[in-house]
Amino acid sequence: MRNKFFITTPIYYVNDIPHIGHAYTTVAADILARYNRVKGKKVFFLTGADEHGQKVEKAAQEKSRSPKEHADLMVENYKTLWSKLDIKNDVFIRTTDSEHVKTVQSLLQKLWEKGEIEKRLYSGWYCIPDERFWTDKEVVTGNCPDCKRPVERITEENYFFLMSKYQERLLKYIDENPYYILPETRKNEVLGFLKNNPLGDLCISRPKHRLSWGISLPFDDSFVTYVWFDALINYYSATKYLAPEHRVQDTAPPTQPSPSRGEGKGGGENLTSEDWWPPEHHLIGKDILIIHAIYWSTMLMALELSLPKNIFAHGWWTVEGKKMSKSVGNVVDPNKVVEKYGVDAFRYFLFREVPFGLDGDFSDEAMIKRINTDLANDLGNLLYRTLVMIEKYFEGKIPQPPPYDINGSVDVLREIHLKNRIESIKEKFDVLMEKLSFGHALDKIWEAINDANKLIEDEAPWNLRKANNIDKLSSVLYTLAEAIRIIAVYLFPFMPAAAEKMWEQLNVEEKLSKINLDNGTRWGRLKPGTTIRKGTALFPRIEKG
Ligand code: ME8
Repeated sequence: MRNKFFITTPIYYVNDIPHIGHAYTTVAADILARYNRVKGKKVFFLTGADEHGQKVEKAAQEKSRSPKEHADLMVENYKTLWSKLDIKNDVFIRTTDSEHVKTVQSLLQKLWEKGEIEKRLYSGWYCIPDERFWTDKEVVTGNCPDCKRPVERITEENYFFLMSKYQERLLKYIDENPYYILPETRKNEVLGFLKNNPLGDLCISRPKHRLSWGISLPFDDSFVTYVWFDALINYYSATKYLAPEHRVQDTAPPTQPSPSRGEGKGGGENLTSEDWWPPEHHLIGKDILIIHAIYWSTMLMALELSLPKNIFAHGWWTVEGKKMSKSVGNVVDPNKVVEKYGVDAFRYFLFREVPFGLDGDFSDEAMIKRINTDLANDLGNLLYRTLVMIEKYFEGKIPQPPPYDINGSVDVLREIHLKNRIESIKEKFDVLMEKLSFGHALDKIWEAINDANKLIEDEAPWNLRKANNIDKLSSVLYTLAEAIRIIAVYLFPFMPAAAEKMWEQLNVEEKLSKINLDNGTRWGRLKPGTTIRKGTALFPRIEKG
């Protein structure tokens, strides 16, 4: 199915409240989902919560709640934040959903019957926070090589997924599919890992006497499923009961309002669960790359299901140069950032400040600098100055421009330059968005914004007015207003509210969220004679202190 776009984020643990890292992946997925919707694709944007396992059980115990009560309370923090951040996920999966549980059990049963799972006596070093075993070689002076906390020696019977036999096949797959794991550096990390370490088998059970909060193994009720095995399957199980065609038949409302439902344009066909699989992108942080690239890929191979088209592992946010941690007390709460700076500024900052894929550093100083320079000065002023001049010189009506004709009576060279610049965004923008190069896509938009501001400086419309050169003045102001209209179409996936505000101020009739990117960016759709509606500043400057 060519016209569909299925995108996922990790499902986040409900042991704690969301922070900037969770917001980062989810906003990235939202940008891609919005972009693909305006490109006319049918989109399925999945996010959700990872609710089983020791971490959640422990967090619930600390609050004297049952794990389910705890999860019910904690998921609301995510849902509220997503709506605050203008995230239009189609659904919100919870691993405690009965349909998810059923899918996990049926896949486990299938693997068991196929001989892909085996029971063994196992002895290893167990890291409780990471919920995984390590071998003697991997443990570093009694500590977990990942989180550096002490590990415990545990000997017990467990069930193992026979992952090791897929090592060669996976290596070959990654080699033959250059876009499977991105960015390139991350792909090389996975290849390095696979080439240098014999792949072990994966322990996929926990005895219930040690952990009861999980999905029972369908073939042995004294065990629950390893939380990662359960969690990874969310991506697939969602297509079985949450994909759009299921929700249309739902009697219950979706877990979150779904403005995108039915918005997928083009195609016109009804998609089934099978059509949605596999996803176009799994967006994840680099922390869980090996788990996705190796555990999940081999699980899918064993299940004879297609692999996702791409796993993209982005970088890590630090705060003022330091790793975020509760004990340091520097965890960035996106709710607070949004209260202080606004949603669009936050969304913009995350993707302009750092190329998607690399690590980034958050600080109020960097945030304020971006807002004042790019948003208030460049973008906000462009809109404001243009609208003020249209108000002043044309009684608030978009002027009728003379033709863009270099041989005509008006010298329109600079306007043509801006028009060409705007038109040149198109091709590059699509290529960059396909590559998830959000920062570079924004660079292209800003080149046009800068050119538009330069047109104002170069042509000084106030002098044109003084000289009573109305044709030229119309040409300059129409060109600026039309450039702003198109810039808003490109900005919409990144800063939906600001882009809509830009359209409202230009008083464009159509609704921006319903516009198709290819039609909407065609030059000349802004109607002369429209009365503009200048409003408040798009991005007020932030004064320090
Ligand atoms: O790992 N910078 O959940 P989780 C950037 N439940 N992104 C960050 C980040 C940071 N400092 N910290 C976290 C889990 N993230 C599992 C996932 S998927 C089947 C199960 C983001 O709540 C990033 O996306 O610990 C990372 O992969 C995710 O949060 C981990 O969230």
